[in-house]
Amino acid sequence: MGTSIAVKMSKRLPVTLNDILKAQSRIKNHTHTTPVFTNCTFDQKYCRNFYFKGENLQKTGSFKARGALNAVTVLQEGGNPVPGVVTHSSGNHGQALAWAAKMRGLKCAVICPNNSPAVKLEAIQGYGAEIVMCEPTPTSRQQTCDQVSKDKGYHFIPPYDHNDVIAGQGTIALEFLEQVPELDAILVPTSGGGMVAGIAIAAKSIKPDIKVFIVEPQGKDVERCLTAGERLWPNPPRFLNTIADGIRLQQLGHVTWPIILELVEKQVFSQTNEEIMQGMKFCFERMKLVIEAASGAGIAAAMSDRMRNMDDSIQNVGVILCGGNTDIDHLPWYSS
Ligand SMILES: Cc1ncc(COP(=O)(O)O)c(C=O)c1O
Repeated sequence: MGTSIAVKMSKRLPVTLNDILKAQSRIKNHTHTTPVFTNCTFDQKYCRNFYFKGENLQKTGSFKARGALNAVTVLQEGGNPVPGVVTHSSGNHGQALAWAAKMRGLKCAVICPNNSPAVKLEAIQGYGAEIVMCEPTPTSRQQTCDQVSKDKGYHFIPPYDHNDVIAGQGTIALEFLEQVPELDAILVPTSGGGMVAGIAIAAKSIKPDIKVFIVEPQGKDVERCLTAGERLWPNPPRFLNTIADGIRLQQLGHVTWPIILELVEKQVFSQTNEEIMQGMKFCFERMKLVIEAASGAGIAAAMSDRMRNMDDSIQNVGVILCGGNTDIDHLPWYSS
């Protein structure tokens, strides 16, 4: 059964377990094997075993370092001279690409919306990348990025819709299943879907019965699209009004969508700002970990009625604490 699913996937999907294993060997000497945290109070209250994967402690403060470094390394393996790399990002992918480019001796430009958190902009500059500001819309981001790419000859490394980025993010699941082989399900905070696509390919190749769930900010409406089997979102893509700035894009990507449709559960965890804040607060107070709101969304999903009502086959639940880049002068419970 396991083998047949793995073979079926590798024929149809653009990224395979083998791509993810190669990504792991490319990046593993430069990224952290992030720790897994448990919390007895949480387990007792929410009646399952929860395992929190600390990607907030990853290089650059988020899992994005994995995909960015894999993509930049593959680009250089191509043998042609690479003048530089460019991307658009609300922060974490920008920070990760800036770091990866520096590691590989490449120039880097990052297109950032003019409302990006200061902490993320400072970090991007700290890694030596040039910041180019744009309007806070997905369309303005892409147009500015295309222009910089054309003017400077830099290669565009997208935040999620890119096979090497997806493969890099998939290394989270290789590591997680080695650390906690008994996982029955993984909750993944999702924006464009690079992380959940990579995790689903790796996890379901290794353990076909595992369930991978999307966690979204309320309003993203992924469940309706997955159930219909269609991308029903409005065009052009837009940002949601959420405190979880890392996951505010409404639409899943074009590369990530078919992977997600095939491998990810149709039931989606949709969390409000208030719930995300409760998740963050629990983590700060009880687990003593600094996380950003996107990670809080994952914890909120673990606390939700939807999780409470899951059947008993799901005993061991992984939660990705996807990032820790939060502006401590503007924590959401002080500014809302
Ligand atoms: C902290 C954090 N979590 C989750 C995500 C979602 O990643 P993806 O776009 O691969 O779904 C992002 C994306 O920027 C992020 O920064």
